[in-house]
Amino acid sequence: MLINTDDLKNKGFLDIPIDKNINIIEEINKLKIQKNAVILAHFYQIGEIQDIADFVGDSLKLAQEAAKTNADIILFAGVHFMAETAKILSPNKKVLLPDLFAGCSLADSAPAQEFAKFKKQYPNHLVISYVNTTATIKSMTDIICTSSNAKEIIDTLPKDQKIIFAPDKNLGNYINSVTGREMVLWNGACHVHEQFSVERILELKKQNPDAKILAHPECEKTVLIIADHIGSTSSLLKYTKQNEYQKFIVATESGIMHQMRKANPQKIFIGAPPKDSTCACNDCNFMKLNTLQKIYNALKYELPEIIIDEEIRVKAEKPILKMLEISEQLKL
Ligand code: 13P
Ligand code: SF4
Repeated sequence: MLINTDDLKNKGFLDIPIDKNINIIEEINKLKIQKNAVILAHFYQIGEIQDIADFVGDSLKLAQEAAKTNADIILFAGVHFMAETAKILSPNKKVLLPDLFAGCSLADSAPAQEFAKFKKQYPNHLVISYVNTTATIKSMTDIICTSSNAKEIIDTLPKDQKIIFAPDKNLGNYINSVTGREMVLWNGACHVHEQFSVERILELKKQNPDAKILAHPECEKTVLIIADHIGSTSSLLKYTKQNEYQKFIVATESGIMHQMRKANPQKIFIGAPPKDSTCACNDCNFMKLNTLQKIYNALKYELPEIIIDEEIRVKAEKPILKMLEISEQLKL
């Protein structure tokens, strides 16, 4: 089979048709064994991808798995910055992303040159960046964090430490509010989490007064104020398992509800309504680019592969390792 590498440039994935008679899940499992490959999937993937993954988790857990796996190939069912983080941590492994166009609006909201200028305006500031950033932004960062450990990492720093927090202003504002700090915030956001409508959530709550509102800290402040629980995807999932509540309004990407329903089949989960009632905007269009077909082709042909400039990789690795080290100390 001749591989059309123009597909990678133009479409972001190998567009090779698959024989309809094969059982794609069985074939993916065979390829995993043959190639000593591991599939890491984020909670925002479609259910069938989560179900074939070796590890499903939030950004922190997936980074931790990527750092310690013995596999030769890591297939990252997630978005570009996640696969890049895996490659930064495991440079000698082949890291595959089923669709190279699976980007992230939040990571894109911090272009490197503008961020470098911004950083210059705040000398003596430590740079804490959310993991949703490009490798280049990570190379300009002192400590990386995820929504699972942002507060805890920032709490380890002296109270008078000046901090730049990038790129998510909503998470940054939330951390400022719970820590009493005044971190300087980069003005970035995620287009999925910014689209939830507080008015429509409140209407839904009126119709379902017994429902608890769950919100990811990437949501706007107006949504966070009315939430019963705020946390990373893993924290929201844990909350649904660890209490007796039966109904939840979920203000984050829809994929997490797959795990919530699996863990709590008798409970009811309702996606929080978006501002634009005509869109399917609880789905992250980037996360949802991944399909079983693309995963099969990626494993079979070992493409698309993540490649990072070594100078950037070495610089970007330091703040990620710092995050993993602090997280281990804090048992996160
Ligand atoms: P977590 O899974 O770490 O909560 O992150 C959510 C997210 O935005 C991933 O893109
Ligand atoms: Fe990026 Fe938002 Fe999609 Fe997460 S949900 S990958 S932050 S665009």
